Amino acid sequence: MLSYEIVTLFLFLLLTAIVDIGHADHNESLTITESTVAISDVCQSKQCSCMNLTSDVYNQYYHHVDCSHHHLTKIPLSHTLPPKTRHLDLSMNNITIVDKFESIDCLVRLSLAINGLKKIDSFAFEQLPKLVTLDLSYNELEEIPSTLLQGLSDLQFLNISNNRLKFIPVELFKTNGYLHELNMAHNPISFIQPDTFSYLGQLEILNLAQNSFYSIAIGMFQRLEKLEILDLSGNELQSVPTDALHLVKRLQALDLSENPIRVLNMASFYKFESLLELSLNKMPKLVRIEKQTFSTLKNLQRLSIEDNPHLSTIDENAFMGMFDRQSISIKYVNLRRNQLNRLSEKTLPFCNLTYLDLRQNPWNCDCNLRWMHYCHGSTEFENDIICSTPEQYSGQELVAIKPDSMRCKISRNNDSHYLFLLCVFFMTGIFISIFMLIFREKLIQMYGKRNRTNEGSIYYVRAQSEQVE
Ligand SMILES: *[C@@H]1O[C@H](CO)[C@@H](O)[C@H](O)[C@H]1NC(C)=O
Ligand SMILES: *[C@@H]1O[C@H](CO)[C@@H](O)[C@H](O)[C@H]1NC(C)=O
Ligand SMILES: *[C@@H]1O[C@H](CO)[C@@H](O)[C@H](O)[C@H]1NC(C)=O
Ligand SMILES: *[C@@H]1O[C@H](CO)[C@@H](O)[C@H](O)[C@H]1NC(C)=O
Ligand SMILES: *[C@@H]1O[C@H](CO)[C@@H](O)[C@H](O)[C@H]1NC(C)=O
Repeated sequence: MLSYEIVTLFLFLLLTAIVDIGHADHNESLTITESTVAISDVCQSKQCSCMNLTSDVYNQYYHHVDCSHHHLTKIPLSHTLPPKTRHLDLSMNNITIVDKFESIDCLVRLSLAINGLKKIDSFAFEQLPKLVTLDLSYNELEEIPSTLLQGLSDLQFLNISNNRLKFIPVELFKTNGYLHELNMAHNPISFIQPDTFSYLGQLEILNLAQNSFYSIAIGMFQRLEKLEILDLSGNELQSVPTDALHLVKRLQALDLSENPIRVLNMASFYKFESLLELSLNKMPKLVRIEKQTFSTLKNLQRLSIEDNPHLSTIDENAFMGMFDRQSISIKYVNLRRNQLNRLSEKTLPFCNLTYLDLRQNPWNCDCNLRWMHYCHGSTEFENDIICSTPEQYSGQELVAIKPDSMRCKISRNNDSHYLFLLCVFFMTGIFISIFMLIFREKLIQMYGKRNRTNEGSIYYVRAQSEQVE
């Protein structure tokens, strides 16, 4: 009995240890310390600064070799690098052509950023099988060979942003199933074949900002089962690529800023239920957000609609159904620097938000904005809301105007009511006139007869009376 318990306990401890090791492996923390001993050519010649890299997991020493900003025009040969170079930073040099790297067994992190790189060998990284992070950003690459990343099965972070790429080979990511983050921002790419990303089942972050996409193929994100963050800002999209995004089941953050979308409506974000954060800033053509646009975003926490120079309308039912009386997930709403002059109190329970920014809009401070007074102070409500109209309040802060003096002239409802009555009145008048014209003859006849008989009778009566007199 006792021995059984001991065995169980032992097994439990063993299991915990294994789990712990597994954990540690993922969270490996590396400490960089200055290396005093000169260990190789590049370090001795001060071409690069070499540092001791201590890994808490493997209990071994590696090297962090920083050759950035040294006017290098060539990649240092591998025998000139310290053995066990784990990080190699070649950024900010003058390397324009990259030939095949010689074998560096344990190289995990490589940066060639900011070099003016123009050409890269098709198998440049073939002998760097342990590469986890590769940075090729801020260069002048116009194309990427389709075999460039072949065999880099540990690759997790790839940055090819800020180049001149127009095209991504469909086979490029074929063997990079562990890619976790892909940054392709700031390139002139307008189209990617739908299958290009289909190998990236572990991808969590995809940055396609500042490219030239005018549409997104429906299947493009289909296999990205773990994608959580997607940046599509600064493209040429004229509508939300709803069908393609629908297939991204775990999407949490979406940025569609700086796209020429004119109107957002109930079809735009239909059933993006996992979304927590949405950015719709600096959209040059956005004029209107229609009813039920955000209705299905039941988990949304942060919404940013900022700096849209033509956005003048947010329908008061734009959020209808997104929240109910008991619960509201949205906490942060930024509506700064738009062209809004009115915003119905019914749009959202604004006063329950933890952050609300309404600054720099041409507000019409009439009775419809009185609610802004009552929110003030109850939340982190930004207070410099400046009125634009009516004229007597132009340029004044809303907080400085008494709620009672924020009046509406004649409310729209009364106005139309009044107009309606006026119309009815006139129509009746016209109708009667027409009626009278048509039946004039008969009327005249009728009146005429009656008049004559009347006259006759009067006459007769008169005559009678005269006779009586
Ligand atoms: C590893 O990191 C994750 C998140 O960064 C953390 O939740 C976890 O506790 C860490 N594990 C260990 C063993 O430090
Ligand atoms: C790295 O640091 C360790 C401990 O600080 C030291 O023993 C070792 O000599 C250093 N290695 C190099 C190459 O500087
Ligand atoms: C690269 O080389 C050119 C000319 O050889 C020089 O003008 C420029 O300053 C160099 N740039 C860097 C970052 O070293
Ligand atoms: C490249 O992209 C990664 C992730 O997107 C980022 O962490 C890194 O700083 C970028 N590199 C440069 C040189 O900006
Ligand atoms: C909003 O706040 C008010 C008062 O602070 C509270 O009564 C109401 O239940 C809250 N509504 C929601 C949806 O949280």
